[in-house]
Amino acid sequence: MMMPAIRLDGAEAKFGDVVAVVPITLSIATGEKVALLGPSGAGKTTMLRLIGGEVRPSSGSIELHGRMIGDLAPGRELSSLVGMVHQQFDLVPNLSALQNTLAGNLGRWSLGRGLRSLVVPVDRHMAISALQRVGIDDKSAQRTSRLSGGEQQRVAIARVLVQDPSIVLADEPVASLDPARSKEILGALTTDSPDQQKTLVASMHSVEFARDHFDRLIGLRSGSLVFDSPATDVTDAMLDELYRI
Ligand SMILES: Nc1ncnc2c1ncn2[C@@H]1O[C@H](COP(=O)(O)OP(=O)(O)OP(=O)(O)O)[C@@H](O)[C@H]1O
Ligand SMILES: [Mg+2]
Repeated sequence: MMMPAIRLDGAEAKFGDVVAVVPITLSIATGEKVALLGPSGAGKTTMLRLIGGEVRPSSGSIELHGRMIGDLAPGRELSSLVGMVHQQFDLVPNLSALQNTLAGNLGRWSLGRGLRSLVVPVDRHMAISALQRVGIDDKSAQRTSRLSGGEQQRVAIARVLVQDPSIVLADEPVASLDPARSKEILGALTTDSPDQQKTLVASMHSVEFARDHFDRLIGLRSGSLVFDSPATDVTDAMLDELYRI
């Protein structure tokens, strides 16, 4: 493989005595679309947070495009490489959909410009076009606290579209959406920009959806890799085993 977009080398995550992700070694190529599957508590969110630099590995290391994650400056440098859509959308409830979307620029902007954008939305066209891509530009002025769960999820996705990192991490990005909308949103997340092949790693609850729309499926259970295979090679038996109670 050429230099991978993501490389985990014995990366482990512990919270106190709880091992959330056992040491994992794997690489994800630039442009690959990877779904993380597994039962609740399997470690999907934690693995995404390790890759996004939000959780420090308790052992091992993580590289993004060949750079050790700990060496990347938070803000501008990290946010151009990696962005995350959280399971809890992490929006500011009192701000409008448009303002929350614009916050995707915060990593790139100076503090002054960032603060000003909260008062007077600058770069509106960029945010509006992201809201159009996820189908809620008609709600751009609405306070986020007054949007439905699925609409809030789409604002969170619009925000990462504005951020435009080379690696997109998404924690159950379509959990609150109907199937038709899910397909559209996933399309927006996986469309490669002309100058950049995007890498996507998303945790998914819908196995069917993951099989249809992702290249590679990673099964996690109790923090361990159960399988890591091309989507076409994952059998029903492997999935039954993964979700067995
Ligand atoms: N901040 C934290 N502090 C302590 N324990 C945590 C923390 N975050 C996660 N854990 C624990 O780590 C394990 C993995 O959690 P994680 O959130 O990664 O699972 P998940 O696969 O995303 O589950 P779900 O499908 O319910 O979102 C769980 O046992 C969880 O309780
Ligand atoms: Mg989770």
